[in-house]
Amino acid sequence: MKLWGGRFTKKTARETSQFLDSLRFDARLYKEDIKGSIAHARMLGRQGIITPDEADLLVNGLMEILEEIKEGKLNPADGMEEDIHSFIEARLVEKVGDVGKKLHTARSRNDQVATDFRLYLKGEISDLNLLLMQLISALVERAEKTKEIIMPGYTHLQRAQPITFAHHLLAYCEMLRRDCGRLKDCYCRMDYSPLGAGALAGTTFPVSREDVARELGFSGICRNTLDAVSDRDFACEFLFDLSLIMMHLSRFCEELILWSSSEFGFVEMDDAYTTGSSIMPQKKNPDVAELVRGKTGRVYGDLIAMLTLLKGLPLAYNKDLQEDKELVFDAVDTVKSCVEILIPLVETLKVNKERMYQAAGGDFTNATDLADYLVRKGIPFREAHGIVGQIVLHCIQEKKRLEELPLEVYQQYCSAFEQDLYDYIDIAACVSRRRVPGGPAPKSVEKELEELKQWLDVQR
Ligand code: ARG
Repeated sequence: MKLWGGRFTKKTARETSQFLDSLRFDARLYKEDIKGSIAHARMLGRQGIITPDEADLLVNGLMEILEEIKEGKLNPADGMEEDIHSFIEARLVEKVGDVGKKLHTARSRNDQVATDFRLYLKGEISDLNLLLMQLISALVERAEKTKEIIMPGYTHLQRAQPITFAHHLLAYCEMLRRDCGRLKDCYCRMDYSPLGAGALAGTTFPVSREDVARELGFSGICRNTLDAVSDRDFACEFLFDLSLIMMHLSRFCEELILWSSSEFGFVEMDDAYTTGSSIMPQKKNPDVAELVRGKTGRVYGDLIAMLTLLKGLPLAYNKDLQEDKELVFDAVDTVKSCVEILIPLVETLKVNKERMYQAAGGDFTNATDLADYLVRKGIPFREAHGIVGQIVLHCIQEKKRLEELPLEVYQQYCSAFEQDLYDYIDIAACVSRRRVPGGPAPKSVEKELEELKQWLDVQR
């Protein structure tokens, strides 16, 4: 069944329909579409726009269609209609007869699709939040067991100062926590109902937009009918949030890839989450992490495509807007699959604490602590920095570590050095001293972990 055609004398060309139809991808909005139609039909009945009996017929018909789809008896994607809205309406008319044709009173597909899309994304945000929480939990669990594992912290990919592995994992927890917060914000801003905006200028029927909004679980109505049908800010925001999630995941994956190279040897991914080579029998490749990193590009692409699609688009509805769905669906499917696969990958990650510890002690990562040592003996920091710099240079020339240099040599550079310097620059001591809130010391990590676990509890 076509929803229009009265003013046409010719049939639509097959290639036109093929080009324009969206059912093959918007079929996934069937639940939201039916939910929206049920709320609309009930409201039409309550407001006396149709009779209560007619409303009941529509609602029951719609519920049956929903059941049939859920049970697999009916597959919207197989339909011949233009889009999911036409598909559901056609099935309704088949089921309940002519009264089905009253459903679209005081409504347009423009406010309908905007409503469906918002409802759908609200659901996706909730699902995604749960997944992110699971990933955070997996990281928290690994952090609890790696509080004492010392690794080098880097700047410029050069060893800088020693930290704990748990601290590194907690950095990602913070990113993901902000991601959850952003999704929540996005949810709040999209939580308004477009229904009642009609095609663009509302309706002449005495609808109750507020009732429909309430029944659909929206926190209110879109305040302007033109904006209601043409706004896709919420989709842009959502895509931006997804892009940041991917950016965080790709940074994590990049580190996992680096760390699992034999040059680093810090971690080993479980066989179940790695792959081999068709030619090189010895290989174990971090394909999962690489593909997550790679998929980041396509999510960014979806965001840029969405912004570009909206740029300069006049009010109100234009068919361009139909492009919104594939972009968002692609992005949300991608992000969910990435988060899903990273959860077990994190849970099964093997950590090589000996390698990490060994690496943490190289490249003078305790030089800052040696300077701090002098500061504690009364030397101004800038001066201490200079003295330690000279000592490091000496060590490089002599191929020695700071720990290996005799006290007499230290004292040639500064008389403030005493025997206790050796304990002071021990790598474990350097880490445990970094007890600032949010710092890498096991004590600080413990506090952060407590806070994170409380946060997780509150979210659940
Ligand atoms: N399939 C359309 C979309 O996704 C539904 C809205 C159609 N409205 C219209 N005026 N052609 O945007």
